[in-house]
Amino acid sequence: MNSTSDFTKMKREGKKIAMLTAYDHPSAKLAEEAGIDIILVGDSLGMVVLGYESTVAVTVDDMIHHGKAVRRGANDTHVVVDMPFGSYHGSEDRTLKEAIRIIQQTGANSLKVEGSGKVIDCIQLLTSTGIPVVAHLGLLPQSASVLGGYKVQGKTAAAAQKLIEDAKACEAAGAFMIVLECIPYQLAEQVTAAVSVPVIGIGAGAGTDGQVLVFHDTVKYGNHHVPKFVEVYADAGAVIRNGLTDYVASVKDGSFPAEHHRFTMKEEELNTLYG
Ligand code: KIV
Ligand code: NA
Repeated sequence: MNSTSDFTKMKREGKKIAMLTAYDHPSAKLAEEAGIDIILVGDSLGMVVLGYESTVAVTVDDMIHHGKAVRRGANDTHVVVDMPFGSYHGSEDRTLKEAIRIIQQTGANSLKVEGSGKVIDCIQLLTSTGIPVVAHLGLLPQSASVLGGYKVQGKTAAAAQKLIEDAKACEAAGAFMIVLECIPYQLAEQVTAAVSVPVIGIGAGAGTDGQVLVFHDTVKYGNHHVPKFVEVYADAGAVIRNGLTDYVASVKDGSFPAEHHRFTMKEEELNTLYG
């Protein structure tokens, strides 16, 4: 399993880091079998698994429930769990209590938090408590309603400069990795060069130290909108839909179950039963 220093080493050696979200036992197991370097139990689970409109409805209990399943499915892979909306925005005591609850109950290796400003203090607090932290800058889905929707961030020189400073602040506060979401590739390259911790992009071009995608986007599983920056690698939805349609048809026409699916009783038991 990769430790935080293994990821720094991968950046130093120019080895790309492949990150993917997972939300349950089978998706975690498949991710681990595919050789994913780090699994994110993202609060995107609100949309792709739970059917909410945004990540805002996701609770700490949701993250724990899914984080546990992921841990059991991928015991040999570094697992990072998102701290959900509201769980790290109140008092330090509350933040610590929720963070420790997630770490202890899921067995995750690290936590991820979105944003800068006061969140930089949160990164410092968690790191100094002994919890490794992944920072998340650029498009912040938990703040989408303030940002005016899911839009590309850091497009002006001023916004780009602020994002570079924020990334440096995240590193200085102790973050061991930074996720950059939906920013121009030129800015992502600059941020990647400006910090010594690995930068993982999503909708941030090819110049980062690694990439992260949402499991369900990557294999086209589910009915949600798939963003422009996603490459779809498989059509799991079509495979499953065809299989299920065949299942329904075979129940209706009586071809399922077949003889090889059924159980039987011994002749003597049958004779006793029927008298
Ligand atoms: O929740 C999530 O899936 C994420 C990724 C988009 C980085 O935070
Ligand atoms: Na997230």
